[in-house]
Amino acid sequence: MPKCLLYVFSGTGNTYLAASFLKDELEKLHYEVDIKKMEGDITSLDVNAYDVVGIGFPIYGFNPPQVVPKFVKKIETPKEKKKLFFFRTSGEPFMWNDVAARRLAKRLRKRNFELILDKHFLMPYNIMFRYKDALAKQLYLYLKSLCKLLAMQIQNEENEGTNYAWYKRPLSFVARLVYVVPYVNKAFYVHVNKKKCNNCNLCINSCPTNAIYRNKKGKIKFNTKCTVCMRCSMFCPQDAVRFGMLSHWRVNGAYNFKKLEKDENINPNFINKNTKGYFKLFKKYFKEQNALLREHQIPLPIEFKEDEVL
Ligand SMILES: Cc1cc2nc3c(=O)[nH]c(=O)nc-3n(C[C@H](O)[C@H](O)[C@H](O)COP(=O)(O)O)c2cc1C
Ligand code: SF4
Ligand code: SF4
Repeated sequence: MPKCLLYVFSGTGNTYLAASFLKDELEKLHYEVDIKKMEGDITSLDVNAYDVVGIGFPIYGFNPPQVVPKFVKKIETPKEKKKLFFFRTSGEPFMWNDVAARRLAKRLRKRNFELILDKHFLMPYNIMFRYKDALAKQLYLYLKSLCKLLAMQIQNEENEGTNYAWYKRPLSFVARLVYVVPYVNKAFYVHVNKKKCNNCNLCINSCPTNAIYRNKKGKIKFNTKCTVCMRCSMFCPQDAVRFGMLSHWRVNGAYNFKKLEKDENINPNFINKNTKGYFKLFKKYFKEQNALLREHQIPLPIEFKEDEVL
């Protein structure tokens, strides 16, 4: 039985959802799959027992979260060449997202890994603004089907190549400025609104980088280990976290995908051939995914009207 390791960072659950769907689909294809979270005290990671390794992360400013390269460094160089794939989630389909894994790929290629696939899954924003229910449902349903497709492509050892064109790199380089947020935030802005906070400690206990603590006076404080994942801000039951310079962009409260999936009143056909305005940008992504799904004879996850299908 082939073995696959999914090594994942996920701040607010989207990328972890992709990993879980992928695990289910690979298991249907008789793979044995382990998911390992890039959290806690991993000092080294031996991948020799696996045939294929998948690395999953959300995109922050067209780059991986700062914590991801640090965890990737902990992967020991395997004795034999290993197949490698990436799966990245992000809120919008801009071309600069394509190069988010480029530097990780470069490092891992030097360490006995052969990159076969670098997949991008659109998921709802966990920052900036909350996506409408219809779009969140559409992205969730597509994620399921696209994980089926990815599992099939891994099994077939399909090599899609990468899309790391040079002109996508400068903006991704500049956008690495997102890495200074924890320092600026700590110095000036990030705090908990005392009037709202019920002292449940959820933020402290769930921070993936142990960046939140109580000082001697019992006040909640943040340090610079923060990787800007927005977990504390999104899941705070009181919406009490004021995330400094990103506060006005916070999205509080999880997307309830299961509920959206069951709700027949929500039409997930949000992005379609006739979509106009900002979301017109999303059409290319769905068109490309539909083509891949059709090519692999996987039914489209949504029934479109004939004049709407991309
Ligand atoms: C600090 C930060 C920066 C982000 N930057 C981008 C970005 O450059 N492009 C994008 O499409 N989405 C961006 N997003 C949105 C996330 O990539 C997206 O919501 C992702 O699916 C979250 O995954 P997670 O739930 O696994 O953490 C950003 C999110 C955060 C928190
Ligand atoms: S999760 Fe929210 S309510 Fe709970 S301790 Fe943190 S800030 Fe306070
Ligand atoms: S402090 Fe909040 S945003 Fe920063 S890493 Fe911890 S949970 Fe994520």
